[in-house]
Amino acid sequence: MTHILSIDQGTTSSRAILFDAALRPVAQAQEEFPQHYPRPGWVEHDPADLWSTVAATARAAIEKGGIKATDIAAIGITNQRETTLIWDRATGQPIHPAIVWQDRRTADTCAALKEQGHEPSITAGTGLLLDPYFSGTKVKWLLDHVEGARARAEKGELAFGTVDSWLIWNLTGGMVHATDATNASRTLLYNIAEGRWDAEICALLDIPMSLLPEVRDCAADFGTTRPDLFGREIPILGVAGDQQAATVGQACFQPGMMKSTYGTGCFALLNTGADMVPSKNRLLTTIAYQLQGKPTYALEGSIFIAGAVVQWLRDGLRIIREAKETQPLAEAAEEAQGVILVPAFTGLGAPYWRPDCRGAVFGLTRNSGPAEFARAALESVGYQTRDLLEAMRADWGAAADGVLRVDGGMTASDWTMQFLADILGAPVDRPRVTETTALGAAYLAAMQAGVIGGPEEFARSWALDRRFEPAMDAATRDAKYARWGRAIAATMSV
Ligand code: G3P
Repeated sequence: MTHILSIDQGTTSSRAILFDAALRPVAQAQEEFPQHYPRPGWVEHDPADLWSTVAATARAAIEKGGIKATDIAAIGITNQRETTLIWDRATGQPIHPAIVWQDRRTADTCAALKEQGHEPSITAGTGLLLDPYFSGTKVKWLLDHVEGARARAEKGELAFGTVDSWLIWNLTGGMVHATDATNASRTLLYNIAEGRWDAEICALLDIPMSLLPEVRDCAADFGTTRPDLFGREIPILGVAGDQQAATVGQACFQPGMMKSTYGTGCFALLNTGADMVPSKNRLLTTIAYQLQGKPTYALEGSIFIAGAVVQWLRDGLRIIREAKETQPLAEAAEEAQGVILVPAFTGLGAPYWRPDCRGAVFGLTRNSGPAEFARAALESVGYQTRDLLEAMRADWGAAADGVLRVDGGMTASDWTMQFLADILGAPVDRPRVTETTALGAAYLAAMQAGVIGGPEEFARSWALDRRFEPAMDAATRDAKYARWGRAIAATMSV
């Protein structure tokens, strides 16, 4: 048994990557699936799409790799986090479409709970904030709005899960209802200091605890696949939420190491070791990974729009046909115009947390055109990352050796990475393998399967593609960042 199959169920597509025993990617398959926007601010996925695209891409990757299921030692799963599903334990049928992490329908519930003064105690236990981003208020919404759901939940007939649990349930034919500590840490229902579901928060949100999955380590036994799926039962041995899996894939195992992943959004995680560091700057405290019952914590900054701003240039403004056109456009832009785009399309995440805010553009002139918009869009990713890192530095004096490891689709753009290094005033490291999310899940499964050793051994295999050194002078950097700060303040005041 020489291979590891990594399943990466993301917000816009499902992917399966087959790794060999040295954790080199050998074959992959990817399928997009529809996004549903039933009302402004609402985002849903069809649970059947999530499952069918995972099953299809997993089979396709195995076929492309030219191997047999008997060659696969283990499966690792990584997934879009917070997205919320409830299904019937007897039939496996979901009671409603999945409510996606980006969905803002519970903004009023969160505001009301905040007003009643519940945020400090919720943050102390879960490390999170009262924002519609997290699963807890989405679960409450489902129980409040789907007819008969709460009564069925109280009778123990229903199961709640984030996407990992939904996939484990389907892969094992309903034999296992489990999640891992990283996914649990995003639900708003899990006490990350004590490693248990929080009965008080569940009572506050009126959520019966019988709905909840069992929480396991990231490298653990999550059951075996139904024999008919791949022609053989394959053990599922690794599970982590996608940003945590990327932290593992980037080998950020030492306190002070940090990574930032640029997908739809951008998520920066700073490893704080065994210390659960509370944030004074509205970052999240979360579990980076949990091995052998021991959690390693992280401070996380979550930005909702990063790569999605390029999609907006393509699908909204229609000024590009492909993402890679942004780089020559940005290079051609008139820098002196200083156009600033605040892409608060779905509100602002960390460190502002303003679900009600919407996007804004500043500094337009009659000469502003596609090039200036493209540049402003790419720069917005750098500015937002700096906001996160500033908050991390303020929260944790020991923050970072100053190097940021990056991954995700946008890191292919050298221009964007150079601007990032310039505006941070710190080096940015792009690894050779940028499939770090899938790699992290594969590593967790491989370690549990005994194919590869502990984190130190894996860390030695991390290899640099290119380091971007800051080249902007400090005065320019400070002036640009100060202007961004004023743009953010103005956006929040509208
Ligand atoms: O918290 C949401 C995050 O896990 C989604 O990641 O890569 O699917 O946009 P992605």
